[in-house]
Formats: sequence, C-alpha cells, structure tokens
Amino acid sequence: MSKKMWEGRTSGKTSKIADEFNSSINVDRRMYREDIEGSIAHVAMLSHCKIIKKSEEKKIKAALIKILNDIDTGKLKISDDAEDIHMFVEEVLTKRIGDLGKKLHTARSRNDQVALDARLYMRKEIISINFLLDKMIDTIIKIADENRDTIMPGFTHLQKAQAITFAHYILAYGMMFKRDMERLYDLYNRVNVSPIGALALAGTTYKTDRVYEAKLLNFDSVCENSIDAVSDRDFIVEFASDISIIAMHLSRLAEEIIIYTSGEFDYIVLSDEFTTGSSIMPQKKNSDMAELVRGKTGRVYGNLINILTILKGLPLAYNKDMQEDKELIFDSIDTVKNSLVIFESMLATMTINKERMREDAATGFINATDLADYLVTKGVPFRDAYKIAGHIVSFALEENKDSKNNYTLETLPLETYKKFSKKFDEDLYDFIKLENTVYRRTSLGGASPKNIDRQIKYLKK
Ligand code: ARG
Repeated sequence: MSKKMWEGRTSGKTSKIADEFNSSINVDRRMYREDIEGSIAHVAMLSHCKIIKKSEEKKIKAALIKILNDIDTGKLKISDDAEDIHMFVEEVLTKRIGDLGKKLHTARSRNDQVALDARLYMRKEIISINFLLDKMIDTIIKIADENRDTIMPGFTHLQKAQAITFAHYILAYGMMFKRDMERLYDLYNRVNVSPIGALALAGTTYKTDRVYEAKLLNFDSVCENSIDAVSDRDFIVEFASDISIIAMHLSRLAEEIIIYTSGEFDYIVLSDEFTTGSSIMPQKKNSDMAELVRGKTGRVYGNLINILTILKGLPLAYNKDMQEDKELIFDSIDTVKNSLVIFESMLATMTINKERMREDAATGFINATDLADYLVTKGVPFRDAYKIAGHIVSFALEENKDSKNNYTLETLPLETYKKFSKKFDEDLYDFIKLENTVYRRTSLGGASPKNIDRQIKYLKK
C-alpha cells in the first residue's frame, strides 16, 4: 500500500498489485525530458497569465531544470515505484521546494500533459528516423554510383525477366525510403499541434493562454477542441503505420539480400561483420541481420494493429486504455531505428559480385523481349514478333536439352534465326547484347544510364 497524490475522493490506499498493474513508469520514463520541458513552459504560461507570481515561476523553473540535470547525470534515479513520469517529476519537485511545487499542476491535467509529452517525444523521434532514412539514401546513392555498369538480371515472379543494372535496382529502394521520409514530414505537421491547456477534457476557468504556451514549445498551432486534444491518438497510429511501411520496405530488401547472398545466386557477399556462422556446419555464413530485420517486421505490424485495436470503440475522452499505446510505439521506434542502422552499415560494407551477376544475366534468355523488338524495327508487328521470339527460345531450350549445346540468344547461329524469320540479319547480335538492351531503355525511369543520373539527382534533392 502507498499514499497517492490523488488521494481525496478515495483513501488513496491502493493494493500493491494494483499499483504495479497501474504503473507506466517503466515505459514513460523515457519521456522525462519532454515532461519537464512541458512543465517549464507551463509555469512560464501561468506566470505570463498572472496565475502564479514571477518569483514563483523562477523558483519552480530552477528546480525543474535541476531535476532534469540530475536525471541526465544519473544523480536522480527515476523510481520504479512511481505511478508514471508525470507523478514522479511532480513528487520530486514538491519534495525539493515544498508547497510551491504543488502549484505546478494548476490549470493542467495529466490527460493533456501525457498528450503533450507524447507529441513532443514523437516530434523528436520523427526527426531522428528521418535522419537515418537520409543516411540510408546517401549510402544507396553511393552504391548506385559505383554500379552504373553492373549488369544483372531483373526479376518478375522471381524469374529472370530483363537486364537491368544494380544501380537501377538499388535506386528503387532509394525511392521507397524517400517516400518514407515524405510521409514522416507530412505526419510532423499533424503531430506539431499543442494539446496542452485542454486539461481533463473541458478546458479551464483560469485565464490561461494556450497559444502562448504552444509557442514556447515550438508548436505550429493548438488543438481546437479540448475533448479531441486529450482523446486523439491518431498521430500515434499514423506513426506506427509509417514505421510499418518502413519495416515493410526493409523486409523486402532483407529478403533479397538473403536470396542474393545464397550460394545459388552469389550476387552479393556481406562483410563478416554482419554475418554469423553455424554452431555445427563449418561452411556456413548466414545473413542473420537481414533475417532478423525481416522477422522484426512482424512485431512492428503487430504494434500497429495493437494500437488500432486499443482505440477501437474507445469512448471520449481520456481512458486508461490509452496508456498502453506508448509501450507499443516505443517498440516500433526502437525496432525500426535499429534496423535502419544495421542495414545502412550492412549495405555500405557489402561486396557486389559484378562478374557473377553479368554471367548469370547471360543465361535465361533475358533479352528475348529485345529479340522481338528487333523484328519490330524491321517492320514485323509486335504480337507476331513476340511469337517468333518465343518459338526461338523454345527451340534453343530444346536444343540445349538434347545435346551439348548451350545456346543463348547471343550464340544461336544466324542460319537458325533465318529459319524463323527472313528479317533477321547480322546486326541482330549487337541489338540483343545485354549492355545495349540496358542502354537503349531510355524511356523515363527505365534502365538506361541517363535515367540513373536523373534518379540520383532526384534522391539528392
Ligand atoms: N500514465 C497515464 C498515461 O500514460 C497518464 C495519464 C493519466 N491520466 C489519468 N486520468 N489517469 O496515459
């Protein structure tokens, strides 16, 4: 049993197991800085509005700054026994400066306080995730730059489709991460609205100045409806969703890293720093980091669904259910930040097996589209050309089965081609050379080197 600050209506004597169940200190302790910064702005507003004296503001503010420093330096330990971070700070303040500390919570409720802390905290984390995304894009640009001429097979249905460059491939992920950044910038606008001053739900009779307090905390605007101010967790849902999309992008890249580092592909070799061995099989070099990032996507999606489910059907205004959101969003933030850090370093240190990619691109008839396109340049309608090219591929596959032949479209003799169409000529071989098929794809966004320049420029913006 312990005494409570909110003792009054009840004896405040709660059971120990209820206290433990009720407490969120081990989750919300990480918002101590935001909580104290919010309180400092709050006393400034109270004094500005003449609700407390200037001298009182000064004393409370100095004590709050001291508490912040003491927590930062480890001099003050955040107690596990506290109900939450808001109560903890207020308790310490009152212990240190006596009755004056009790004035801090004038014209404030924990309902608007927690909404404020959460917004301040998310604001910071949005910037920090965007920083990591930016770094990731820089690394991708560098890899792309070094692999402008690295020919590889592009896949659809995980079947070899057409020749591309590794630059083109990796820049596709650059585009995804850029959109992720844009989504977070957009979200920032909705996070950066101040709920403080809504109090429990209905506002206050004190002559407060919400706009003044919001400005002190660098908010763009204030929540217009006090009930909405304390009930809205859309920004948490959106953040969890934006993070889920980042995790989804990472998981797709992770899957490809896993495939491309396998012996069957051998396109990419990860540095030893980011791989693990097996406890029994001496030959193994596993892509555990990529697998973990892929796996952790599950918990990130889970957190999003979890938060949405907590809010489903929740009546207005504040309900304690909402306390549950922080553990989940913090976990999503931590997970995706760790994943981004690991992936950026892993990509920056991997080796691209250029020869192997080129060699693998030479098999699988990935220039068959270009074979058809060749006939089109000679006046054959595309559908007919497509059919002829298909028959040629099928013929070559048959030949390769029955004999020691290892025909590719590049090695099939011209006489054979001529049996399928009189339009084939010597210039065909140059036309279907993989490098040429890539360089010729000049349509906007396509595989050609000019487009690579354009995409890099776009990402650098
Ligand atoms: N720990 C609470 C939370 O995270 C703070 C708000 C409590 N408000 C209340 N009326 N009990 O949601």
